Amino acid sequence: MTAATLAAEHEIVVARDRDEHAALAAELLGRAIDDAVRARGVARVALSGGTTPAEAYRRLAALALPFDRVEWYWVDERGVPPDHARSNHAAAARDLSLEGGRHGRAFRMEGERDLDAAAAAYEALLRRSFGVAAQVAFDAMTLGVGDDGHTASLFPGTGAVAIDDRLVAHAREQPEKKLEARVTLTTPVILEARLVVVLARGASKRGPIAAARTPGSDEEVPARILQRAKGRVVWVLDEEAAGRPAG
Ligand code: 6PG
Repeated sequence: MTAATLAAEHEIVVARDRDEHAALAAELLGRAIDDAVRARGVARVALSGGTTPAEAYRRLAALALPFDRVEWYWVDERGVPPDHARSNHAAAARDLSLEGGRHGRAFRMEGERDLDAAAAAYEALLRRSFGVAAQVAFDAMTLGVGDDGHTASLFPGTGAVAIDDRLVAHAREQPEKKLEARVTLTTPVILEARLVVVLARGASKRGPIAAARTPGSDEEVPARILQRAKGRVVWVLDEEAAGRPAG
């Protein structure tokens, strides 16, 4: 493993293999949970979907953490029912063993209903959880990066990345990419997180990650918003995604 400071509060960590990748991510998230519970009595964590986080979430669930003080939220959800094979809720609930509340309370996005209504309902839920007058600042958030430079469900060329008047938005269906409509946290919420752990593996992520870390249009590469993150951002990569060997 090697860590180098990129810019203020941005770090990149390169793992040797899948196991180390998952272990590093779980360690970062576990520490953030512990710190938040100690400082504020509760840890609020927003979970991204996709295939990459599964092992990290499984490792996290195996750590000795104050899970009765953890609240799980979602970064985004696909327009499918909660038990669907493409549901981000289903995947994280399985990997974190959330069934029965043993590992904390889960607050899912409702991908099975009208997605404008689902986005509005989730925004209201966030306001209630964090307090109406408070910033919605997650203690930790995981994010992925798509081959097209998207993060969360903020896809390039859709205008979603520029939404700044809502906490949660309906991301429209993209039939040309064969992508269903989704619900997603918006840029202002992502930028407010105390810790963002970006999880990426594989050579196809190298280009989008490099683009995300260089100046340019957010609309072309939505992951660029992380350059303006207010909290700590840690990129947890494998050697292929980083384009360099681990330590
Ligand atoms: C989703 C996401 C999405 C994901 C990236 C990376 O619901 O698909 O939350 O933003 O994190 O597409 O996905 P992979 O981990 O599968 O590469």
